[in-house]
Amino acid sequence: MTPAPATTRKLIVLGSTGSIGTNTLNVVDHLNRSAAASIEVVGLAAGSNSKTLIEQARWFKVKSLAIADATQAQVIRQALPDAVVFAGPDAAVDLVKEVEATDCAAAIVGASGIASTLQAIKQGLTVSLSNKETLVAAGELVRPMLQASGAKLIPVDSEHSAIFQCLNTHPDSVQSNHRAPVKRIVLTASGGPFRTADKETMQDATVDQALRHPTWSMGPKITIDSATMMNKTLEVIEAHWLFDLPGDKNALLIHPESVVHSFVEFTDNSTLAQLGPPDMRTPIQYALTYPDRVGSCSDAMDWSTLRGLSFEPVDFERFKAPRLGYQVIQTGGSSGAVLNAANEAAVKAFLERRIPFGRIVDLAEEALSQIPTQPLDGLDTVIEADRLAREFVEDRIAELSMTAVKP
Ligand SMILES: NC(=O)c1ccc[n+]([C@@H]2O[C@H](COP(=O)([O-])OP(=O)(O)OC[C@H]3O[C@@H](n4cnc5c(N)ncnc54)[C@H](OP(=O)(O)O)[C@@H]3O)[C@@H](O)[C@H]2O)c1
Repeated sequence: MTPAPATTRKLIVLGSTGSIGTNTLNVVDHLNRSAAASIEVVGLAAGSNSKTLIEQARWFKVKSLAIADATQAQVIRQALPDAVVFAGPDAAVDLVKEVEATDCAAAIVGASGIASTLQAIKQGLTVSLSNKETLVAAGELVRPMLQASGAKLIPVDSEHSAIFQCLNTHPDSVQSNHRAPVKRIVLTASGGPFRTADKETMQDATVDQALRHPTWSMGPKITIDSATMMNKTLEVIEAHWLFDLPGDKNALLIHPESVVHSFVEFTDNSTLAQLGPPDMRTPIQYALTYPDRVGSCSDAMDWSTLRGLSFEPVDFERFKAPRLGYQVIQTGGSSGAVLNAANEAAVKAFLERRIPFGRIVDLAEEALSQIPTQPLDGLDTVIEADRLAREFVEDRIAELSMTAVKP
């Protein structure tokens, strides 16, 4: 029998209208209905999708909302006259600052989610972290902030959730001193839609092809990152900061079935893995109920239908991106912010059909090698590195298109 929840937690969902955000709200609904938890949603933030935000606010009776696209604020105020609406680029940060909460689901996509996630950490909330960009670009800032505020960071990314579970990390800390000695962790990767494609096919892959992920249903940015394997690059850096592990203890392996979500090899050569269907509701729920496990609204694995689990090494010749993750771990400073922003700018350009698929990782790599790394002394350095990287990528795209039209 599920024990009755002791207290009601107050949750802010950042990026509530996205793939992780909507799944988070589905899980909250399930946990409340099944009385496995008592979670009041006290704040919701989105980029521009006012329609879904209004529906969510009505369903969960949320009075405090944030929308980055200020033109949508009036639509929300008209539909929900009693709501407090924060608007503009800092709306999500203001929401976190102003609304009394105990928990925050950080699920904004990209660098736009860094400042609000850091704010939630600063305020000592329990943060279920999907916005991996916070650790990629600003991981160095996060650890001292966690120590100062007493915030808890629970990973939602399925691979990191798997490792978190296998490490049996101490409930109060992501620090390394509470756990068994680790030989290495192994992050699994589906390999994406181009796992078996040759280099030439990948070079000119279309947007539709790149968005056709074989196992996971996710937002467009992370789906393209899976196709280039830049997602694993970001995840290697995320794991470095979450679990305090150097790059050489942080390995990658292709696992097309996406059933083994990652594993940990200990010094005694034992290996622990976490398995389950590819459904983000499982790690989202674990992050919300940690350290408890309660009945889930996701489908259980039907093991009798599984015919095998296969693994293969990453082909670093065809997929150049993951190596950049190890480079960023070595370099430190602002290099993670540069890589992340350059990739975001390149993915945006690909989705707008301004560059071929094959240029995405090249542009990120060029930005990383050409933009000088700065010591990471605060969020302003992250923001400046991000700006320089986006500018670099746009300049390179302009140069390349001028070269392309020359006879
Ligand atoms: N999807 C997955 O299965 C998955 C798995 C692991 C990790 N993650 C990570 O989770 C994060 C979210 O991914 P996703 O796939 O859920 O993305 P998504 O479906 O594209 O959703 C992104 C969310 O962020 C909001 N947003 C965008 N810019 C914003 C801004 N400036 N201020 C406030 N909100 C903003 C969007 O609002 P609008 O709808 O209004 O644009 C939307 O709610 C990413 O960091 C991703 O790497 C995702």
